[in-house]
Amino acid sequence: MSVSFDGRVAVVTGAGSGLGRSHAKVLASRGVKVVVNDLGGDVSGQGGSNRAADEVVKEIADAGGIAVANYDSVASEEGGQNIIKTALDNFGTVDILINNAGNVRDKSFAKMDLENFTALMDVHLMGAVYCTKAAWPAMLENRFGRVVMTSSSAGLFGSHGHTNYASAKMSLVGFMHGLIQEGSKKNVLVNAIAPMALTRMTEQVMSPKLAPMMQPEYVSAMVAFLSSDECDLSGQIVECGMGYYSKVQIVEGAGVLLGNGEVPTPETIQDNWGAISDMSGAQPYRHAGQVSRAVFHKMKDEGFLSQ
Ligand code: NAI
Repeated sequence: MSVSFDGRVAVVTGAGSGLGRSHAKVLASRGVKVVVNDLGGDVSGQGGSNRAADEVVKEIADAGGIAVANYDSVASEEGGQNIIKTALDNFGTVDILINNAGNVRDKSFAKMDLENFTALMDVHLMGAVYCTKAAWPAMLENRFGRVVMTSSSAGLFGSHGHTNYASAKMSLVGFMHGLIQEGSKKNVLVNAIAPMALTRMTEQVMSPKLAPMMQPEYVSAMVAFLSSDECDLSGQIVECGMGYYSKVQIVEGAGVLLGNGEVPTPETIQDNWGAISDMSGAQPYRHAGQVSRAVFHKMKDEGFLSQ
C-alpha cells in the first residue's frame, strides 16, 4: 500500500519550527508544493521575524522540494486570507491545510488575565477558522480537500494551568465536527490530531529520557496520511507521537428514561446516577441528529410514546 499526493498544494501554518516545520518537510519530500507560514514569534506568540519561515523554505529547496514562505499571523481574517492567497498566487490552488500554528500562555485560571484567554482562542480556534474559511471555496470547487486540526490531549482530557489552551484546543474538535458533513459530500475531509513531540513548546515539561522518541516526524507521518489522496476518513481524532497512534472517540452511554413521562425530581436523578453514567452500552454518533433519533426509539421501545 502507498499514499500519494498527486501534484497537491499544502498550506502548513506555524511551519517555522517544531511540528509544523516537520509536517512541511515531510509533505514536500513527497512532492507536495508547500506554503510555509510562520510569523516567527516566541513560544507565547510575542515578537516576529521572517527568519523562521525562510529557513524552512530553504531547507525544503535544498532537499529538492518546492515551497514559499508567508509571514502573516493566522489570528486575523486578513492574515488567514493572505496565507491562502499565497498558495493560490504561487501554486494556483490549495488542497491541504494543516492548522498547526499555536502558542501557550500557562497560568492557573485564578491568576490568568482574560486577555491571555482570548489571545489563545484567537490563535488556535480563530486562526484555524480564518485559514479554513479562506481555503474552503477552492476545496469545495476542486472536490478535494484535506484539513487537519491540531488539538491536544490538554483539551481532550484536561491539564492543570491550561484553561485557555484546553478550551481553544477542544473547540477545534467542535469546529471539525461542524465541518464534517458540509465537506464530506465534496471529498473535503477534516480530521484532528492530538500530538506529542519534543519542541520548544514542550521542552520544559517533557522528560529528556523520552527525547529520542519524541521527534516531530512521528506526528508528521499521521498528518501526511490524513492529507493523502487515499485517506477517506473524516471526523477522526488521533492521539499521535513517539510511535504511538490511537483513535480518540466521544461516545454516549445507553442512558435511562426517568420520570414515567413526568419531569423527574433532582432526587430521582441522584438515585439513578448509576444508570445515567453506565457506559457499558456506549456508542459513538456521526452527528447530533442520531442522538435524538436514538432517544426517540428508546422512548418508543419502552412505551413512553404511543406506537
Ligand atoms: P512550536 O512553538 O515549536 O511551533 C509553533 C509555531 O507556530 C511557531 O513556529 C510559531 O512561531 C508559530 N505561530 C504561533 N503563533 C502564530 C500565529 N499567530 N501565526 C502564525 N504562526 C504562529 O510548538 P509545536 O510544539 O511545534 O506546536 C505546534 C502545534 O501543536 C501547536 O498548535 C501546539 O499547540 C500543538 N501541540 C503540540 C504538542 C507537543 O507535544 N509539541 C502537544 C499538543 C499540541
